[in-house]
Amino acid sequence: MKETNTWNANKYKKHANFVSNLAFPVVELLNPQPNEKILDLGCGEGTLAVEIEKLGAKVIGVDLSESMVQKTKEKGIEAYVMSTTDLTFENEFNAVFSNAVLHWVKEDKKAIQKISKSLKTNGRFVAEFGGYGNIKFLTDAIKEVFDKHQEYGKFNNPWYFPKDKDYKKLLEDNGFKVKYIKLIPRATKIDDISNWLDIFANGIISHLTNKQQIQFKKEVREILKPKIYSKKDGWVADYVRLRLKAYKI
Ligand code: BEZ
Repeated sequence: MKETNTWNANKYKKHANFVSNLAFPVVELLNPQPNEKILDLGCGEGTLAVEIEKLGAKVIGVDLSESMVQKTKEKGIEAYVMSTTDLTFENEFNAVFSNAVLHWVKEDKKAIQKISKSLKTNGRFVAEFGGYGNIKFLTDAIKEVFDKHQEYGKFNNPWYFPKDKDYKKLLEDNGFKVKYIKLIPRATKIDDISNWLDIFANGIISHLTNKQQIQFKKEVREILKPKIYSKKDGWVADYVRLRLKAYKI
């Protein structure tokens, strides 16, 4: 699968550590047990994989980004460059865990089938990612700037934010019993929106010239400032999480 975003591990560490800092409820939902074998799908730089191994499980991390996989390996975690839709595991894991990744995977059915194949029977799939309504202010602002500048071409939205009931049905149709699934609005403090765009939206504007990219970020920032910035709280993104736990039947 083609990677739509480029990940800069250093910028990610500096400006996006909220992603793993806020993930502990999902680790709690996973409830890793000693000696379990767990796949961390989209392991990033391995922060959560380390936490899960501390609880006694063996973690294998996979990520599309080579630089992120390298960082994970440097933390002593076994890790591979692999995409969700090309997972090669079969009947191997007690659990598949995934945080803040599946909103990048538009091939939802294929992803769920690969996750199912990776799990042992009764294995669990525990995940959290952007759900319906996630970052609406942001995507609306991006669309507005693309619409204004015809020369930028069409805005190809790389994100997938499903409704809970649709994702539940998809899981059930593909051999899972869903124990828990919920959309959770979670206003999320971020650094300056320019950093967020640098880290997460670079794939959207990679075809633009440097000058156009700077202009794009400036205009998105101007649209968003009255909506998601305040002196008191700084920049707060309108995140909505889809959190779930399902068992392979
Ligand atoms: C999210 O975590 O919801 C997210 C992060 C980057 C881009 C899109 C969504």
